[in-house]
Amino acid sequence: MDRIRIRGGKPLKGSIQIGGAKNAALPLMAASLLTSETLCLSNLPHLADITTMVHLLSELGVEVSMNGDAPGGGHIGRVFGLNAHEPADKTAPYDLVRRMRASVLVLGPLLARWGEAKVSLPGGCAIGTRPVDLHLKGFEALGAEIELEEGYIRAVAPNGLKGAHVLFPSVSVGATENILMAATLAEGTTTIANAAREPEIADLAYCLQAMGAEIDGIGTDTLTVTGKPSLHAANYQVIPDRIETATYAVAAAITGGDITLKGTRLELIDAVADVLVKAGVEVSESEDGIRVTRTNGRIKGVDVMTEPYPGFPTDMQAQLMALLAVSEGASMITETIFENRFMHVPELCRMGADINVHGSSAIVRGVEKLSGAELMATDLRASVSLVLAALAAEGETIVNRVYHLDRGYERVEEKLAACGADIERLED
Ligand code: EPZ
Repeated sequence: MDRIRIRGGKPLKGSIQIGGAKNAALPLMAASLLTSETLCLSNLPHLADITTMVHLLSELGVEVSMNGDAPGGGHIGRVFGLNAHEPADKTAPYDLVRRMRASVLVLGPLLARWGEAKVSLPGGCAIGTRPVDLHLKGFEALGAEIELEEGYIRAVAPNGLKGAHVLFPSVSVGATENILMAATLAEGTTTIANAAREPEIADLAYCLQAMGAEIDGIGTDTLTVTGKPSLHAANYQVIPDRIETATYAVAAAITGGDITLKGTRLELIDAVADVLVKAGVEVSESEDGIRVTRTNGRIKGVDVMTEPYPGFPTDMQAQLMALLAVSEGASMITETIFENRFMHVPELCRMGADINVHGSSAIVRGVEKLSGAELMATDLRASVSLVLAALAAEGETIVNRVYHLDRGYERVEEKLAACGADIERLED
């Protein structure tokens, strides 16, 4: 298993190209199942989760063609053609769903187009139990019959899905995406109330519109979808990854650096930028993206609570905690989305951080310096928070189990090294 070695203490300077959003790309790829014509997606990141989705779609009979890299070269900005002419199978097997929970996003499109789908129950994961009950209740509201058998969700709608009012009791990104996709081919009108408003959902909705779907209320918490008998081919470009953007913004802040994040937009990271500014970081719009600098003294403590968009994203909680660990003063970080998303805390404490967890809140008392250590990555965002902490720490850090990072950060070590970080991947 690959490891990453970092020798900390260097202020990062330079520019980083931000890739397409993983969490937008995954539902967009699943949306290819909604039509017999080719969906061509560009600006796809080169990540392990994208490869898992390619395997899953191929297993379902989707023809996936790589149409090369976009201008700019390297691994960024891949273009895929996805054609779901006649999927061979309507089953998403345990082995793939277990590796990536977002696999459950094929359920809505399969059910809507063929009236049947069988998808393995994803089960829990490192950050919490993460049930899919909201997805299933939504499909039932659209007239599907759902059975759970032998670890699989079996959903059927022999006479097709019917438009309905779907009110989510709590906000779910995945459930909103699944029901939105299904509703595009349902008979009649569907309203999705208390819908998630993450930019990745708007991105999916715009792509579905390009495929011929009729959707109102994009960007709000009420989506209205008028079903169509079929959707058609489209070309669509994935939005920039706001979590990758915000993660590298923290890299600039934690090292006292100056980084320009290219190919991304400030409005995508508003909530994170607000917190960074409160903490004493300078964040501004530049000609081709965002400039993040910290030149004047230590970071200040800030209290933060994770919330659904437009609030502070749970996917940035671990990275922010690494930053606040070296702040002046104390901060309280409250996690409201997932029940077990503090696995980075013991590892940060091994580097000398002073953090105490009480239920869903963590009290972070800033220390002057962290020190390098051998660390274990536990999930994607926890892993990158350890990389960030290591960039600012004194001495050498080894981060084990780097495969977590590869799920969501493309060439992380190359991007950071290009800005002056002393970082390398140790291949086994
Ligand atoms: C998406 O997961 C993201 N994944 C996650 O990113 C992100 O952390 C999360 O949204 C929240 O922003 C993708 O987009 C592929 P949810 P999702 O359904 O859709 C509970 C990363 O690091 N819930 O909004 O699975 C659930 O347990 C990842 O890139 C139910 O109770 O998240 C959680 O507590 C990790 N029943 C909360 O809702 C359900 O049926 C929010 O989950 C569905 C969810």
